[in-house]
Amino acid sequence: MIPDMWYPVAISGDVTDKKPKGIRRLGEELVLWRDLDGNVVCQGARCPHKGAWLGDGRMKGNAIECPYHGFLFNPEGKCTLTPAMGRDARIPGSLKVPVYPVREKHGLIWVWWGDDRPESELPEIIAPREIKENDRVYDTISWNKPVHYTRYIESVQEFYHVTYVHRDHWLNWLDFMFLYGTKKKFGLDGKENYLKATMIHNHHVETDDDGMTFRYSFDHGEEDNPERSIHYVITFSFPCMVHVETEAFATTSWFSPIDDDHTEHIFRVYEFPQLKPILRHEKLRRAMSTLQCYLEKYVQDPQDYKIMARQEPRISGGGVNKFIPVDEMNAKFIKTRARLLREARERREGVVGAGELSDGMVGDLDMATDEAGSGQPAQRPAEAKRRTPARSNGRSRNGAHANGNANGSGNANGNGSANGNGNGRAKGNGEAVPAAEEVEGWSEDRAAARS
Ligand code: FES
Ligand SMILES: [Fe+2]
Repeated sequence: MIPDMWYPVAISGDVTDKKPKGIRRLGEELVLWRDLDGNVVCQGARCPHKGAWLGDGRMKGNAIECPYHGFLFNPEGKCTLTPAMGRDARIPGSLKVPVYPVREKHGLIWVWWGDDRPESELPEIIAPREIKENDRVYDTISWNKPVHYTRYIESVQEFYHVTYVHRDHWLNWLDFMFLYGTKKKFGLDGKENYLKATMIHNHHVETDDDGMTFRYSFDHGEEDNPERSIHYVITFSFPCMVHVETEAFATTSWFSPIDDDHTEHIFRVYEFPQLKPILRHEKLRRAMSTLQCYLEKYVQDPQDYKIMARQEPRISGGGVNKFIPVDEMNAKFIKTRARLLREARERREGVVGAGELSDGMVGDLDMATDEAGSGQPAQRPAEAKRRTPARSNGRSRNGAHANGNANGSGNANGNGSANGNGNGRAKGNGEAVPAAEEVEGWSEDRAAARS
């Protein structure tokens, strides 16, 4: 299950008017393409005729053509041609694909996950100033990993793991030299300093007014030489963005949920202004950025993955961690996400009884405590449970959605509040699913299937 929000699902440049792009995101099979005006269309990727995958289809005028029997579907999802029946055939209304609200912003394609409200009532895409005001984007690439996005986000939101995780690959020397090496020794003391940098000094977390962006500043360095530290500012914005900035570089990651077992890591690098005097040629500076992308993809990320692949439970959430004070950023992310999930659930199911809320999702920030057992339960069974993501077949699921207007407010530190305006509607068409599946399976959680 994921909170109701706009999710980045792909890089803008990867969606062209030449060929549809089939992806799996938010537990659904989706197909992205551009209409004749260049606007992105996002639809369910299963052809209603016999379930072929429209990601293998072709563009035909202002429509997508199914690769199996050539049925055409327009941007509204309506079938406009069934060639085997001829041009003048009457086309049954049920031959249609679901259409998802989609926007293109900040060089990415965003899909709305949540209740089925009119386009004009959808909230703005959340983007902090680090994204809005940064026009020095050099490169954006993406790849995926079999990891839940909560664990991915947790790993990038703190840097005190780097000393332990990113130390053994020969290409880590770039970080050693440029970040931790001293000029006096031409960076050659980098690895030695890197391994000594185990301490976080001066950590401080701020929350933006909307409660959806956290900014974490800290110094990472040696315990006994705090002056020899690297200053970091890490910004997190819901639902899944982590921006890292130091004096030496800036990168942004979006962890786009594919399903409960996989995440698409969209990684962006920016121009290094401080490299201008050294690398005069723009091409060289771009080459550095490209190198940084590939280092992240092929060196650092696999090192992180080695740890994440064996983490349990696979999905983080309220009650599963015992955080320490320098994990405040992680704690706030987990805490706020839990609240957003609860609000989404309330919008769909009506007000939840107090007993059902005592699920570790609404307590404190999950900090480690002195006494074993005095904190939250060791595991959140509901979130930790492995489940098979349901397939989207483009058909509606049964689900009674009570009208709700949830205004979540505050976390344990009193920071932030989120507004969720739920306009749940009862929908009764389509196949029935058991009540438990409605709660557990996130594909079934979409408030109303588009039809
Ligand atoms: S399966 Fe798509 S046209 Fe037949
Ligand atoms: Fe890492």
